[in-house]
Amino acid sequence: MNKKVVLSGVQPSGSLTIGNYLGAIQNFSKLQEDYECIYAIADLHSITVPQVAKDLRRRTYEVLALYMACNVDPEKSTIFVQSHVPEHLELSWVLSSISYMGQLSRMTQFKDKAKKSEENLNAALFTYPVLMAADILLYQTDFVPVGEDQRQHLELARDLAIRFNSKYSETFKVPDNLIRKETGKIYSLKDPSVKMSKSSEDENSYILMLDDPKTIERKIKRAVTDSDAHFCYSDDQPGLKNLINIYQAFSNESVEDIVKQYEGESYGPFKKDLAEIIIESLKPIQDEYSRLINDKAFLEEVMAKGASKASYLANKTIRKVYRKVGFVQI
Ligand code: TRP
Repeated sequence: MNKKVVLSGVQPSGSLTIGNYLGAIQNFSKLQEDYECIYAIADLHSITVPQVAKDLRRRTYEVLALYMACNVDPEKSTIFVQSHVPEHLELSWVLSSISYMGQLSRMTQFKDKAKKSEENLNAALFTYPVLMAADILLYQTDFVPVGEDQRQHLELARDLAIRFNSKYSETFKVPDNLIRKETGKIYSLKDPSVKMSKSSEDENSYILMLDDPKTIERKIKRAVTDSDAHFCYSDDQPGLKNLINIYQAFSNESVEDIVKQYEGESYGPFKKDLAEIIIESLKPIQDEYSRLINDKAFLEEVMAKGASKASYLANKTIRKVYRKVGFVQI
């Protein structure tokens, strides 16, 4: 392997939104030309919040089919399901022995989620960042393309790599964030102060990659804009700004051009065109997805191949780690 290694993961915890697409998956196919790419379907992470088993199983197939519908090519990249490679759990245990409770309890995502589920807080929610560090460090990853919300977790992975290396001798590569051309974070269509999220209770707040045209039109029509009916790109109008960002990301037109085009008009025509652009951009992905999702045998073949490629690499690292910590090898 002489290309640099890129690793990323998506949890199969819900249907994917256009935020997941624009922020991550769209970029995955581009990266595979220049990097050795490893893409995990992070099912082990998903059970940190309650899941219905049959839905989790179904979504694992869905995420795989969506990855491929977005041109992630299993011949070029390694696509695998995290639970198929038990080394993730083995390394996670070893790393937890050098993780400090203090640092884990300062993770903002943990604090947020802890607030929401106060009565029965599970331990996996607390050690989730250690598992994510294991995902990254197992593959001697150079770059992790993550957004703002996962930056602190990547920072932990770096800390753990450095700590392990200095305690036991050089073992892990210290990963870096892969800075992307900023698509801008995509926010909720109902409340532009929070990220667009598939776990939101209001289904009008997000657009799913698999939403049909009518649904997309309806959701865009109902998206909040601001009472000040003046078409401009400004922090004072976060609802409209978010919609312009979505328009920009799908059309690749510049923000200035978009503003020029709709200046002086009401929001109606802009929203109509925006819905159209999203529908047209998603159509080829949705068509390919429908074809793939019905071919379970093929998806399982891809999973099996991915698992064996990933296991080979993961096993090399875990053997080294076990030797260094003093486990007897037979
Ligand atoms: N925790 C990430 C998320 O929720 C998903 C993930 C799991 C991940 N393992 C990873 C991302 C490793 C990057 C690298 O979005």
